[in-house]
Amino acid sequence: MEVERVQALATVGLDALPAQFVRPSHERPENSRAIEGMTVPVISLSQPHHALVRTIHEACREWGFFLVTDHGIPPQLIRRLQEVGGEFFRLPQEEKEKYANDPSRGSFEGYGTKMTKNREEKVEWVDYFFHLMHPPCKVKHEVWPQHPPSYREVTEEYNKEILKVTEVLLELISEGLGLEKNALKATLGGDQMELEMKINLYPPCPQPQLALGVEPHTDMSAVTILVPNEVPGLQVWKDGSWFAVDYLADALFFHVGDQIEVLSNGKYKSVLHRSLVNKEKTRMSWAVFCTPPHEALIGPLPGLIDDHNPAKYSTKTYAEFRHRKFNKLPQ
Ligand code: SIN
Ligand code: FE2
Repeated sequence: MEVERVQALATVGLDALPAQFVRPSHERPENSRAIEGMTVPVISLSQPHHALVRTIHEACREWGFFLVTDHGIPPQLIRRLQEVGGEFFRLPQEEKEKYANDPSRGSFEGYGTKMTKNREEKVEWVDYFFHLMHPPCKVKHEVWPQHPPSYREVTEEYNKEILKVTEVLLELISEGLGLEKNALKATLGGDQMELEMKINLYPPCPQPQLALGVEPHTDMSAVTILVPNEVPGLQVWKDGSWFAVDYLADALFFHVGDQIEVLSNGKYKSVLHRSLVNKEKTRMSWAVFCTPPHEALIGPLPGLIDDHNPAKYSTKTYAEFRHRKFNKLPQ
């Protein structure tokens, strides 16, 4: 089935936004502006251990979101990741289509654009490329971009680095919850814990005030670590308002996802977030989702529930959680 790509639509020079992208009034950025003058937490990994555990604990509890600096990933590697992703999206359309995914047939990896299922449903101003990066036994290199030729080497290098940072952050979060250092990673599958890459491309949009790049959602993952290009657009929800996240060069954007909310029995909130688009500039972001394997059982950790703190979430496999979330069924 032919899919209409947002990038292709953006290059024909539209004056007005096609109807399927026009959000209902209350969702439009022009009617739901972000609060000014307050910024999200920025956490340096180089601060003393005790302070680090505490600041991360507070950020996870209050925001479910923070920016990470001094994380040890070379800025040069982030630049290269951005270059190879950008190069893929600059390929001729027919080259990109060779990687088209088909979520309706359970094929999620590859090049994709969400489509409307009915006339009322609205779509987002974004195309993406999605593939698994870890563990090695589940990676299908044949579905990764073959062009540019360095895509694989650069992405494998980034995967190694982001895995290290993810492990460090999961340890710090475990400690902040009063658990053993290894508790979260072990529950998330240990060596079978998965890392997925999603490259988002938000082309220039003729009427950005009427559209959304990504509609408000929480991530299904345990945690998500994202790097954007220099074009801002991400907003996070806290205490009834949207907050714009400013660009901070080389920082990692850390999101608490649904699985950590469940494991922590609601101590930490899976952050609601959305992204806006831009009239002139192309925004891109590279999101790494850290998830348990499908068969992992996820529920409130035994150390965090007792007579005074009963479990607020049911225990189920990650596959079951995904099924219910995709089909908008109660969890
Ligand atoms: C997303 O949450 O799906 C993407 C957010 C972003 O591009 O910043
Ligand atoms: Fe997200």
